[in-house]
Formats: sequence, C-alpha cells, structure tokens
Amino acid sequence: MKKKIFVTRKLLKENEEKLQSLFEVTLNKDDKIFTPQEIIDGSKNYDGILSSVTDPINADTISKFSNSIKIIANGAVGFGNIDIQAAKAKGITVTNTPDVLTDATADIQILLLLGASRRAYEGRIAAETQNWKWSFDFLLGKQMSNKRLGILGMGRIGRAVAKRAKAFGMEIHYHNRSKLSSDLEDGAIYHKDIKSLFEKSEFLSINCPATLETKNLINKETLSYLEENTVIGNAARGDVVDDDAMVEALKNGKVFAYGLDVYNGEPKIHPEYLKLKNIFLLPHLGSATKRTRWDMAYRATKNLEDFFSGKKPQDQVN
Ligand code: GLV
Repeated sequence: MKKKIFVTRKLLKENEEKLQSLFEVTLNKDDKIFTPQEIIDGSKNYDGILSSVTDPINADTISKFSNSIKIIANGAVGFGNIDIQAAKAKGITVTNTPDVLTDATADIQILLLLGASRRAYEGRIAAETQNWKWSFDFLLGKQMSNKRLGILGMGRIGRAVAKRAKAFGMEIHYHNRSKLSSDLEDGAIYHKDIKSLFEKSEFLSINCPATLETKNLINKETLSYLEENTVIGNAARGDVVDDDAMVEALKNGKVFAYGLDVYNGEPKIHPEYLKLKNIFLLPHLGSATKRTRWDMAYRATKNLEDFFSGKKPQDQVN
C-alpha cells in the first residue's frame, strides 16, 4: 500500500506528479499557508509530511502529530522552522535539501551586496520617477571590487559566495564554527571569533544557519566591531539579525547599506526597513529559479522515497 504524504505547499506540476506516482498525497492546490493546527489536522494518520520554510513546526506542534508520522521532508536547506530534537524524540526523521540551491542562493547574495552597495533601490526610484540627471556626484555608492569580504558561516553557500567574490578581486575572510581544511578554504583567511572577522570586513556576507546560537548574532555589540560604512548582505535567515540594532547602524553610518532577502517573522518586514533608503530588499528569492525549486522538491521526494524503502535518507538532519 502506498504511504500517505501531506504536502504543505503547492509544488511545480512535475514534482507533484512524481509524488503522486510514488505516494498517496494530499496536495495544497490553492497554496494556502497553513497554521500549525491545520498541519496537525491535515496530516492526521499520514506517514509523512513534505514541508517548507513557511511552516513553523515547533515542539508543541510535533507533540500533537499523529504517531503514524515518521518523516518530515523539509523542502529547503534551512530547517530552523522545525524543532529537530523534538522530532527525534518522537521518532520522526527530518531531512532538508542541501547542495541543489547553493548556486542560486550565492548568486542572490552577490546581488544583495551589489544592490545595497551601489544604491540600486534609490536608483530605481530616481529612474522610475524621471527624477535624475547624470552628474559627478549622483548616487555615489561603494565599490565592491577589490575590497575585503567577511563571510559569516563558511558552509556550502558561504564558499560559493567566496568563489564569486574572488572574481571581483575581493580578499576573503571568514568565521565558522571550525576552521576549514585548506582545500575548502581556498585561500580564505580564518578568524576564530566574530570580533576579529568584523574588524576586517568592508563587506559582510551572512551565510550561517538560524540556530539558537546564531539568533541575533548581529546585534548592537557585534555591529560595533565593524568599520564605519560596512555593506552587509543577508541571504541566510532574518533571525540572525537584531533588526532594531541594524536600523540604528544604518542610520548612524556604521552600516553603509544592507541588502536582505530574509526577515524575522516573514513575510512581515521591520517597518523601518521600508522607510530607509540604504536598504535593498528582496522577498526571499534565494532559491527562486525554476530549476532550483524543481531540484529542491525532487530532493525532498527522494528523501521520502529512500526513507520508506528502508534506506537512510541522504539528507537526514536529526
Ligand atoms: C531557503 O531559504 C532554504 O532554506 O531553502
């Protein structure tokens, strides 16, 4: 008998067809964002859930899941939306989708750093309102080429950002939980603490996952380690940044500009971010290419398939 999978969000058509060929699935045709209670009710007596970043699945929600649920395949590389320890305690395997979105997300990170440093938001408004003329001092930004880039979190995406940044002639510095092998470092300079990294960073790329340790890691104190006029890009998670501290730093010149694709409490956006000009905002587009979204759903499906055929899924995270 086919296993029953509850799919929380609408997927690309081919991905849904593939799932239907393997499992008995309930799809979310209208792509409604379910509340935790709706996920609990909808997945009652199912065998697994295919979730996404928009589903907060905390310990309380997990405790209310049917005992029949054995796997949550998150269709994302980040899994901060799921309490993986609570899942483990209930005997639920959690998987993510690494690798397949590394390039797309690193591309967006470069866009965020460039969009912020070269004042793309203000430029767009000036062009749109026909309120501009070329002049020697019109909308002067900060050049990214040949600067020092600090990378906070040198996992797959951080390293892919480094690779791209090198094409801009940037000198790469990084901080990570542990120093990488020289192979993976590929010339990047390791800093064993954030203070030392931030003091060196003319541009800062946030690429660490959202965990209890990284929550509000960018705060009033850590921002004070930066040089004046640093440019920051965040394609990781909003939770890593204390928004009030960032707003202050954007107002007082500590941070020249901030490019971000991710937010605390998405899809809400801190109201000050919508008022400031030295901000470049995108609506969580890091993995938003057709190929990447297809690959993510494919990989989540493969994790479900492996799990139910008795294999350890390749992307198990708990
Ligand atoms: C996107 O944000 C992801 O974690 O895949």
